[in-house]
Amino acid sequence: MTVSTKTLTIAETFFQAEAHLEIDVKSSIPVTLLAIFNANKVSINQSCGGNGTCGTCRVEIVHNSDLIKAPSEYEIEAIQELGLKSLERLSCQTEINFTAKETNVVVKIVSEPID
Ligand code: FES
Repeated sequence: MTVSTKTLTIAETFFQAEAHLEIDVKSSIPVTLLAIFNANKVSINQSCGGNGTCGTCRVEIVHNSDLIKAPSEYEIEAIQELGLKSLERLSCQTEINFTAKETNVVVKIVSEPID
């Protein structure tokens, strides 16, 4: 999978579990937030390898949540089982809506930092 990244800048100081990331990505294929993080060497836990079962890759959508695709039934079940809060999503299951004109999204990593 090729991820064409226009910019991914860290908008605020990278506090352990308080990281805010501003993402502006162009891609011709659906791509998850976790794939964008990995392509840009953003450190985030992903214990289950992106299968949506561990909850360690959770993020909070801080800005432009309307540019994020709605969760799939699979992610909805995982969100309920893992007890995520209302604006939290699993970055391994969450895709940006690339059909929108604007693609700038700000997310906060809320999972525990990697030791
Ligand atoms: S990496 Fe495990 S739920 Fe996303």
